[in-house]
Amino acid sequence: MKKRFSMVFTGLALSVFMSQAAVASEMPGKALHEQADCMKCHAAKPYDPSKTDTYPKLVKMVQFCNDNLNAGFFEDEVEQLAEYLNKEYYKHPM
Ligand code: HEC
Repeated sequence: MKKRFSMVFTGLALSVFMSQAAVASEMPGKALHEQADCMKCHAAKPYDPSKTDTYPKLVKMVQFCNDNLNAGFFEDEVEQLAEYLNKEYYKHPM
């Protein structure tokens, strides 16, 4: 009985882990966003779709913060971050 429980538990833990991995690979920008601690500033300064009102501008703003922070993201990572922010906050046509 006890053994069976632990097997179910391991299976559950594994599937939670795997679904998280799937989310991360689906939306790499989300992980980058957490890793770079963007919310350190942007929790107090919410992303504003009326300010950054097109997708190309959004990419530029991500690049701007990347440069300012010396975060050192590559171009494709900036793109992934912009994609994530667009999906979560801005919802501009791409
Ligand atoms: C040290 C504080 C700070 C950090 C950390 C920071 N930013 Fe910013 N961010 C700013 C400031 C200042 C502005 C420009 C002022 C404004 O638009 O409110 C800005 C503007 C932006 C904008 C446009 C804002 C809008 O309203 O549309 C985006 C998008 C953005 N940052 C993305 C990021 C991303 C992605 C990261 C993490 C890699 C990040 N920022 C980390 C300070 C920061």
